[in-house]
Amino acid sequence: MTDQLRALLSERGRAWPGPIEHFETLTSTSDRLKEMARAGAPEWTVVVADRQTGGRGRQGNAWISPVGNLFLSVLLKPPIHAAAAGLLPLAAGGAVCEAVRALGAPATVKWPNDVLVGERKVAGVLAEATWVDRALDSVVVGVGVNVVLSPRELPPDLRDVTTSLAAEASGSTDRDGAAAEVLERLTVWYHTLAAEAAMIVEAWRALSVPWWGRRVEVRSGDATLVGVAQGVDDRGALLLRLDDGRVATVLAGEARRLRLDR
Ligand code: BTN
Repeated sequence: MTDQLRALLSERGRAWPGPIEHFETLTSTSDRLKEMARAGAPEWTVVVADRQTGGRGRQGNAWISPVGNLFLSVLLKPPIHAAAAGLLPLAAGGAVCEAVRALGAPATVKWPNDVLVGERKVAGVLAEATWVDRALDSVVVGVGVNVVLSPRELPPDLRDVTTSLAAEASGSTDRDGAAAEVLERLTVWYHTLAAEAAMIVEAWRALSVPWWGRRVEVRSGDATLVGVAQGVDDRGALLLRLDDGRVATVLAGEARRLRLDR
């Protein structure tokens, strides 16, 4: 798989700058990559697995990881200050959203980085930072894309809210092609972040779900906030106008649109 992936990247004019490791089964590509990072792996190291037995999502959720889907993690060592680094999860979501669009599905990104087609999730991003002496050392960006998906493999509560490239992009089941697309877009968004962080929020917003001005519910830690989604600030935080008029700044959480909002 790794030769094929490198070849696909070269075809796109992008010689991949780091090692690419492929495994049949891992607990989690991100866990393996973090181990490799501790052992000195260079920036742009990629870990891909055919399946994960302990795939992790945001907010402590599991990520169901059957064969056929894409599970990859990339090691970044951002030479950027902490404020810009806070935009990395947004940038990664934008990159994956663009990749899914390039593969033929009309994707949008939901704050902070869920990639949806319509209201169903097709891909997710888990960005995990490691700090050393209060300085950002590295970020492992884990990406899961549902390339093919059999509803039987999903728990009942996820069946109506999940989709795949096969369902949304004219039957596309090319996992390696999806991996190349994701990696290529990640490099573009990452270099943009390093060069001109302000452009990330603008580009992300252009790809985002049309929720602005609508009522949403956001779960963040133990708190649940309800308000009107205003936008994201220059750190990538969600701005939510609460019913009492205050504007809450939510740095991390899970958002969902409320239906009776008008
Ligand atoms: C989410 O939307 O909740 C994020 C899902 C991230 C899943 C990917 S799959 C590759 C990498 N390894 C993991 O254990 N998680 C990420």
